Amino acid sequence: MKIITTVKEMRRYVKHNYKRGRKIALVPTMGYFHDGHAMLLREARKLCDRLVVSIFVNPLQFGRGDDFASYPRDMKNDLSIARQHKVNVVFAPSSDELYPVGYSTFVEEERLSKKLCGQFRPGHFRGVATVVAKLFNIVRPHTAIFGQKDAQQVAIIRKMVEDLNYPVHLVVMPTIREKSGLACSSRNKYLTPREKKEAAMLYASLQKAEELVKSGVRDARKIVDAVKASIAHAPLVTVEYVEAVNPETLEPVKGIDTRTLIAVAARVGKARLIDNIPVEP
Ligand code: PAJ
Repeated sequence: MKIITTVKEMRRYVKHNYKRGRKIALVPTMGYFHDGHAMLLREARKLCDRLVVSIFVNPLQFGRGDDFASYPRDMKNDLSIARQHKVNVVFAPSSDELYPVGYSTFVEEERLSKKLCGQFRPGHFRGVATVVAKLFNIVRPHTAIFGQKDAQQVAIIRKMVEDLNYPVHLVVMPTIREKSGLACSSRNKYLTPREKKEAAMLYASLQKAEELVKSGVRDARKIVDAVKASIAHAPLVTVEYVEAVNPETLEPVKGIDTRTLIAVAARVGKARLIDNIPVEP
């Protein structure tokens, strides 16, 4: 397994492998690997000849007052997990390597980015789109693998790929959860045991939404209210939003007539957590 930290060396590696007709898959991450990341690596490994995982805590996607400085990092463990999954290259550039002094070009998706988390994290998706565009340009992956846990991120990257004509095939994998149902997240590290227990209510409430849809409820308002009421049983969980949206446009829906995403964001202690569940009538 190679560890590459410069754009120049990454490009050289990519060029060498393109010449030999090898298919490259990229799993972009911010490191501090959990079972969700591991699943993406496992899936990606099957889809390519050369598997690249990027580990880069992207300062551009953290707002002022966000957790950039305290974001958990454990390169040693990440490298060990990468090795176990037969990763070919870990691309781990420094901030200065991707954003040298005087850096001034950004990628901004202007519609989907304003919805859901966009209202609470201004500039976040501009940071995500910019770094993912850069990674696509540097690594030139044939396939890139993302997690459905970050459903809005997926929708925005899909739009960026379409709008900017990236020749990248996107693969989206379902959310991996802890035994309690809590979605695996690097940010779960911030939670105390009690907070963690209550945070499991997020998924429990989404499952309740799924049950309501299965039992014939079609009114999105009723479902959103039921999710909020259920989360209210966890006093350490403060909801930012619960919304029923179209999975592609992220526009709120009134009725559950087609595949709909029930998405939630909440603060639990020091962590901001998101989760979602797709439902179908
Ligand atoms: P990060 O939070 O490290 O997530 C890396 C990838 O893992 C993303 O595609 C994310 O959706 C996926 N993922 C996270 N938790 C998951 C879970 N429980 N189950 C399945 N997949 C999960 O997302 C980012 O990093 C960054 O925004 C990035 C795209 C790398 C740009 O900086």
